[in-house]
Amino acid sequence: MSVEKGLAGIVVAQTELSFIDGQEGVLIYRGYPIEELAGRASFEEVAYLLWYGLLPNRSQLDQFVQQLKAEQTLPGPLLEVMRHYPRSTHPMAVLRTAVSTLGMLDEEADTTDEAANRRKALRLMAKMPTIIAAWERIRNDQEPIPPHEELGHAANYLYMLTGQAPDEAATRAVETYLILLADHGMNASTFACRVAVSTLADIYSAVVAGIGTLKGPLHGGANERAMQMLLEIGSPERAEAYVLDLLARKERVMGMGHRVYKTQDPRARILKGLAARMSDRRWYDIALEVERVFLREMVGKRLYPNVDFYSAPVLYAAGVPIDLFTPTFAISRVVGWTAHILEQYADNRLIRPRAEYVGPKGLKWVPIEAR
Ligand code: ACO
Repeated sequence: MSVEKGLAGIVVAQTELSFIDGQEGVLIYRGYPIEELAGRASFEEVAYLLWYGLLPNRSQLDQFVQQLKAEQTLPGPLLEVMRHYPRSTHPMAVLRTAVSTLGMLDEEADTTDEAANRRKALRLMAKMPTIIAAWERIRNDQEPIPPHEELGHAANYLYMLTGQAPDEAATRAVETYLILLADHGMNASTFACRVAVSTLADIYSAVVAGIGTLKGPLHGGANERAMQMLLEIGSPERAEAYVLDLLARKERVMGMGHRVYKTQDPRARILKGLAARMSDRRWYDIALEVERVFLREMVGKRLYPNVDFYSAPVLYAAGVPIDLFTPTFAISRVVGWTAHILEQYADNRLIRPRAEYVGPKGLKWVPIEAR
């Protein structure tokens, strides 16, 4: 019996959703390299592509957007319970709990035919930005802002955070970010979703598992920590000493390294370009210096910036609060999660790996008085 720690290199499913070449730095959604989509498509088009396998024509997109808009509002009882969450709760914990509540409030929660699952996937995509924005308002003693009837998914999210129509640069940044993060093969949170539905559990339970898994600092939680690091560094001249100190203490530089990419992460490449074009370049300049020192120190280790590294200055410059970075990741990845969930249901077998037992055997019962 051989153990692959972290399931490294193990292929657990076939998928038509995304292809990653970790040696060449390639990411493809349903046949389209991400470079074709980022900056051209809307996030709604990419969601349609992942769910239905092709880019929508005008009338398909209009209908899709209309269906999405019709699902953006939160049920009253959910908003009501959210007002009772402790104000200091991390937004990822709020999202996890609120999505679980959504499941309780959805009469179709346990109906698992394909049409019902597609409706629920749409509901999750539509409602998650509203949940996060509502929490941002509630924790600041402000009234949640209802979804805007005209704005697209990315712009509406930014609008619901502040009540102001976002500027074009911020909308473009967040839209590109959402597109780049929508799916990524068998990453940890997607795997968690697939494991959950492989037991024929419902889609809400699976997405709750996905959110819980994304929250960790080795996965989606890294973007928030990368930004905290940039803030702590404060200026490019301080980056070198900061990185050297981290490495000397054998700590990780958040936003660096990847299980699959052994070259530049193609998403990081696009986000780096975007960060360079944002009006507030201060954090980008610090990030550049962190990257330079890290690559110099880790030469030969094949560690490069991952998607979370340059998404930090992009989201920050777009005005997204730091602890909403990982929830914003979830707003995007819920599309990939649910697309994988649909694939798993369509060709399911219980996911149940084995463990190698390395403990003792044959011990004899000892009465409690004698232990
Ligand atoms: N900083 C410093 N050293 C690192 C880093 C890092 N960010 N990442 C990996 N290493 C080193 C490890 O210390 C290890 O060194 P060693 O061989 O001398 O012991 C070597 O690189 C391999 O690291 P592993 O942890 O075995 O690699 P694994 O594939 O298991 O982990 C991971 C990948 C978790 C992403 C890792 O690179 C990491 O912790 N990065 C920082 C957290 C992060 O940015 N996560 C986001 C990933 S992208 C995403 O999920 C959206």
